[in-house]
Amino acid sequence: MVLITRMRYLIIISVCACYFIGVEGEDCIAGHVLDLRIDVGGNLTWSVSPTEPCEIEAFQVDLVGDRGDVYHFKVNTTHVNLSFLEVCEEWEFYVIPISNGVLGHQMRIIDWIPLPADADLTLLYFNITHVGKQEVLLEWELRNRTHGDCTLQYRVAVTDRLTTEIRDVYFTGHFARVSFLSPCVQYYIDIRAINTAIGGIEGPLLGANFDTPSYPLDPPKLGSVVTGPTSISTTWIIESYENNSCPVLYLYLDGGSYFNLTTRLWDPFGRPPMQINVTNLLPNTMYHFKTFVQNTGGLSAIVPMAAQTLELQPGKI
Ligand SMILES: *[C@@H]1O[C@H](CO)[C@@H](O)[C@H](O)[C@H]1NC(C)=O
Ligand SMILES: *[C@@H]1O[C@H](CO)[C@@H](O)[C@H](O)[C@H]1NC(C)=O
Ligand SMILES: *[C@@H]1O[C@H](CO)[C@@H](O)[C@H](O)[C@H]1NC(C)=O
Ligand SMILES: *[C@@H]1O[C@H](CO)[C@@H](O)[C@H](O)[C@H]1NC(C)=O
Ligand SMILES: *[C@@H]1O[C@H](CO)[C@@H](O)[C@H](O)[C@H]1NC(C)=O
Ligand SMILES: *[C@@H]1O[C@H](CO)[C@@H](O)[C@H](O)[C@H]1NC(C)=O
Ligand SMILES: *[C@@H]1O[C@H](CO)[C@@H](O)[C@H](O)[C@H]1NC(C)=O
Ligand SMILES: *[C@@H]1O[C@H](CO)[C@@H](O)[C@H](O)[C@H]1NC(C)=O
Repeated sequence: MVLITRMRYLIIISVCACYFIGVEGEDCIAGHVLDLRIDVGGNLTWSVSPTEPCEIEAFQVDLVGDRGDVYHFKVNTTHVNLSFLEVCEEWEFYVIPISNGVLGHQMRIIDWIPLPADADLTLLYFNITHVGKQEVLLEWELRNRTHGDCTLQYRVAVTDRLTTEIRDVYFTGHFARVSFLSPCVQYYIDIRAINTAIGGIEGPLLGANFDTPSYPLDPPKLGSVVTGPTSISTTWIIESYENNSCPVLYLYLDGGSYFNLTTRLWDPFGRPPMQINVTNLLPNTMYHFKTFVQNTGGLSAIVPMAAQTLELQPGKI
């Protein structure tokens, strides 16, 4: 607390001094430096604006680490060798130009010392757990965690072994959920670490086959319904192959003791809406029925429905 107060006091004093001297027309407050960055070797570099009017004699370089450590330097070059900093520790880097003893404007970046090019990107394990109809939980860990993984990304490739279609997704961290899988598909899922700091150095692949279990279809959706005096014509939309690849079997329209229709479903031509007509009904009658579908994963939930046939009009059926 005392320190902070003192620092503020100092800043106020220095600002007043600058102003005072500035009025005298002698001193110059340098603008902030450009292109402040740190490279993979720990070299912090920056440049001075070509239009900088002040003559800069030195730079003050301050470092504040995420573990509370602090460093101060004063240099007369536009780089500092900071290779002694620990890889993947996060730092705030401040650079302030000094012109004739007067501090200029500061520039700040927050960054890490990136993982070096020879960092071990081998993975220790890659676990795949089925957690929902279309979802798996992926878990992995680096074999050598000495440096951490601040500049790593993990690329997961999901391959359909039948069609060989591949989907890539990128993650950070050590676990992720992938939720675009389809039941009844044979997949190959692999992962590799990529060090993004150095143009994307790729680690070795680790993968496994994963076959998604079967799962019942979503209940069918009613596309349309048209009633006549003795008929009810319906169309039904079946869940897409992309979202549930288990082979389809039957669509049921169960009207209890009045009618009970079973229609065979087929996969090969995509899954077009199914038209189902109920005929030989009585005019002006309310019919209640249940619709559901079956695939190799079992029966879907039921869609309950009611439809009323029209009144019989002379000359019309
Ligand atoms: C820069 O600083 C070093 C010491 O840190 C000194 O030896 C050198 O003379 C300085 N160069 C200039 C141009 O001021
Ligand atoms: C940077 O400093 C380290 C020691 O801190 C030294 O080993 C290394 O050679 C220096 N790099 C260069 C290019 O001077
Ligand atoms: C740091 O970068 C500067 C400017 O690119 C270069 O002149 C210097 O040799 C580099 N130093 C180290 C330690 O790599
Ligand atoms: C991953 O699988 C291995 C082997 O089955 C097991 O020992 C390990 O505990 C699993 N890790 C996680 C995070 O579930
Ligand atoms: C892990 O990586 C560090 C830094 O590259 C290395 O010094 C250490 O020997 C490695 N540990 C193992 C068990 O490979
Ligand atoms: C798959 O299901 C999702 C929601 O669960 C939906 O947004 C998407 O449109 C479906 N895909 C197809 C091809 O029907
Ligand atoms: C209608 O047919 C299905 C399938 O054959 C059967 O499970 C259901 O019990 C039948 N409904 C009635 C009311 O008989
Ligand atoms: C169902 O009825 C409609 C008229 O309501 C007719 O156009 C269609 O061909 C019929 N479909 C089947 C499969 O009988």
